Amino acid sequence: MRAVVLVGGFGTRLRPLTNARPKQMLPIVHRPMIEHVVGHLGRHGIDEVVLSLGFMPDVFRDAYPDAVCAGVRLQYAVEPEPLDTAGAIRFAACHAGIDERFVVVNGDVLTDLDLGRVVEFHERCGAEATITLHKVNDPSRYGVVPTDEEGRVLAFVEKPPPGEAPTNLINAGTYVLEPTVLDRIAPDRPVSVEREVFPAMVEEGCLYAVDGDTYWIDTGTPREYIQAQLDLVEGLRGPAMEAIEPTAEVDAGARVVRSVVGAGARVAAGATVAGSVLLDGAVVEAGAVVEASIIGHGAVVGADARVTGCSVVGDGHRVEPGAVVEGERVPPPPA
Ligand code: GDD
Ligand code: MG
Repeated sequence: MRAVVLVGGFGTRLRPLTNARPKQMLPIVHRPMIEHVVGHLGRHGIDEVVLSLGFMPDVFRDAYPDAVCAGVRLQYAVEPEPLDTAGAIRFAACHAGIDERFVVVNGDVLTDLDLGRVVEFHERCGAEATITLHKVNDPSRYGVVPTDEEGRVLAFVEKPPPGEAPTNLINAGTYVLEPTVLDRIAPDRPVSVEREVFPAMVEEGCLYAVDGDTYWIDTGTPREYIQAQLDLVEGLRGPAMEAIEPTAEVDAGARVVRSVVGAGARVAAGATVAGSVLLDGAVVEAGAVVEASIIGHGAVVGADARVTGCSVVGDGHRVEPGAVVEGERVPPPPA
């Protein structure tokens, strides 16, 4: 079976990290996010992935010039302009000539979903499309999907106001689609699968959903981008992965706890890094504190500075010695 992987968004919520690369090319424990996503699909019977590209497509093409990613064959479908989620699905499927049942995934989701079980469910229901679900505490950031007992979707409410969601089961961003779904998507304009296509299918009763009932995270915000990596190095998803890349230099007098330290990054004596992610080549100078934050590629946290509270320091930026950065983006996003 083939899968379309949506990776064309701007990654706005992860700026400034996404100023220079798409979010799916940011590392998750020393490997681009896309490799985790495609690798998972490959282990579940997907033999070709169509990457639905828009924002900075060359970063992907340069990384996988032979069009193989995590052992899976790639096709590149580059949109001339952002087509939104359904428009992107249609464009990519047409580009690759998909005319049979296929899978779609949001490229920023990491999960241990048993895709085979979803396909079986889809088949059993005779669904035209099947959405996977995940239970969360705050559904307001997601697509909210109430169903009946058989799994037929009763409504699809994208990002309802806080407190107004009809259930805490949300759209987990993996779909099994019959090719007829493509005919429901207007060819000549941006179309949202969440706001337009799925709600229309609800009216016809041909949209089903099943709880994936497993590990799941959308990595698209700084908090979740950090969390997804801590989960891997703390062994929440199988054997714990190595948190500190072998070429990183952590001084014996530094304190690094619950953190991921990328290739060639350096942490000096007397510095503390906790609950954080240092991307490749980042530097934390003597006595500095980095807590629950992300330090971009080659960025520097000067001596005795404090970077805390889900701050994000962009690639190559410098936090001056002794500075205090709390819950901020460096540099700040344009107004
Ligand atoms: N090719 C292409 N073109 N891809 C796009 C476009 C586009 O115009 N817009 C977004 N994408 C890609 C993003 O790169 C991302 O991988 C995926 O589509 C989903 O977009 P996000 O921006 O991450 O959406 P979200 O997280 O706010 O919400 C979506 O995911 C939630 C679960 O993670 C929705 O599908 C929600 O319903 C869902 O609950
Ligand atoms: Mg997302």
